[in-house]
Amino acid sequence: KVIEPCDFVLFGTKGDLARRKLLPSLYELEKAGLIHEQTHLIGVARYEMTQEEYVTLVKENIEKFTGEALCDDTWQRFSTKLDYVQIDMQDYDSYAALQGCVDESRTMVCYLATPPSIYGDICKGLNAAGIIDPSVRVVLEKPIGHDLETSMVINDQVAEFFKESQIYRIDHYLGKETVLNLMALRFANSIFATNWDHNCVDHVQITVAESVGIEGRWGYFDDAGQMRDMVQNHLLQILTLIAMEPPASLDANSVRDEKLKVLKSLRPINASNIRENTVRGQYTSGFVRGEEVPGYLEEEGANTESETESFVALKVELDNWRWAGVPFYLRTGKRMPRKVSEIVIYFKPQPHNLFKDSFNQLPPNKLTIRLQPDEGVEITVMNKVPGLTSSGAMNLQKSKLNLSFSEAFDTKRIPDAYEKLLLEVLLGDQSLFVRRDEVEEAWKWVDSILEAWKKSNEKPEPYQAGTWGPVASIALLAREDRAWYESK
Ligand code: BG6
Repeated sequence: KVIEPCDFVLFGTKGDLARRKLLPSLYELEKAGLIHEQTHLIGVARYEMTQEEYVTLVKENIEKFTGEALCDDTWQRFSTKLDYVQIDMQDYDSYAALQGCVDESRTMVCYLATPPSIYGDICKGLNAAGIIDPSVRVVLEKPIGHDLETSMVINDQVAEFFKESQIYRIDHYLGKETVLNLMALRFANSIFATNWDHNCVDHVQITVAESVGIEGRWGYFDDAGQMRDMVQNHLLQILTLIAMEPPASLDANSVRDEKLKVLKSLRPINASNIRENTVRGQYTSGFVRGEEVPGYLEEEGANTESETESFVALKVELDNWRWAGVPFYLRTGKRMPRKVSEIVIYFKPQPHNLFKDSFNQLPPNKLTIRLQPDEGVEITVMNKVPGLTSSGAMNLQKSKLNLSFSEAFDTKRIPDAYEKLLLEVLLGDQSLFVRRDEVEEAWKWVDSILEAWKKSNEKPEPYQAGTWGPVASIALLAREDRAWYESK
């Protein structure tokens, strides 16, 4: 794979995502020498702006969101690649403005950082301008749809102009270093490969907790809720990487075929089993990291009657050979005590206890994969405490084999997920992007839960901001004699 020159067209260049993530990530790629010197970065928005104003806007945002003063050389190289084109994305004639900016002999990448409701319009506009050809790559941001039906509409609109091999659906969790490391951990280490199934694993926990609330995004979030915003995509993608069979190769379709099989094995949750398998919550006011914060219904612009969930806990089962009888517990929420994303694999107890004198039950081995922050991998093992005891008995203690990325690797900074994903788009590799059938299979499963919640007529359970969610989430595991892992 090589990085070739291209025309990178960023639709929605003035939007939140572009300013916070995409422009800073492109700049970091420039710094790392990963953008071809002849690449052209074209920002598109509906506002009138001179080239100079656009370059200033980009500079201010990169400074703000990287939190660094820009390096003169890098900025010099980067800024000469920038261009701005004003387009009203629903006026197909206005796309003609792109014709003079893109070079037909090179690859064009169109990044749609806009509301998905206008993806279809953008495709039509590009078509009207006559600049679509089989080499064009189109990048779509989540959420793709609100449910299976609406996601199919959006996917159909895009598919009218682009083949699946040209479409890159982003789930930024797939670009996180530690999520990528799941593949290395599982498939480059035989110690895990042979212990990764129902014979050895008791259960798995996946926590993606955030301390932030809805950050002024009431309109979007209240319509989506934590299930659509986080579970349908990020948590299910993590689950597929933990649970999938080894792919035949790292080729995009081999990996995605295996992920799809996991999604197809998700045991449906519906009105008949919703109560024992799900918990949803909504935060009330409280303290997060020492700061007093309002409840969900008191957020700016809130509809005080809203029943949207800001927390979800699920017991998920996979009906397949490898994972029969192994529950996967998922939880994710806003306004939790801190931002932490972790996967914990609990192994089965030892078949026989030689240390009954000290332990009625030996604690199980645990593999913890810290996705963020303090990225790393940790295994708990039992060890003999060195030294003599008057009874001669062995004194055992639980200890940790801990690999912290920041200590183990000589990397000054961990790249942002968007840097990795943008690089993959420039390289033309789809492995880290979600295929249409994956999105649809995930929606199918999620829709059934959402429907059952709606029918149940029950409201989400309140939890105080700054806690780990409603009490019912603790009960979800407690009734099976298990408990959520307490992160440090
Ligand atoms: C986004 C969600 O996809 O992921 C946000 O829309 C959420 O609501 C964010 O805050 C979390 O991403 P990260 O990388 O900060 O864990």
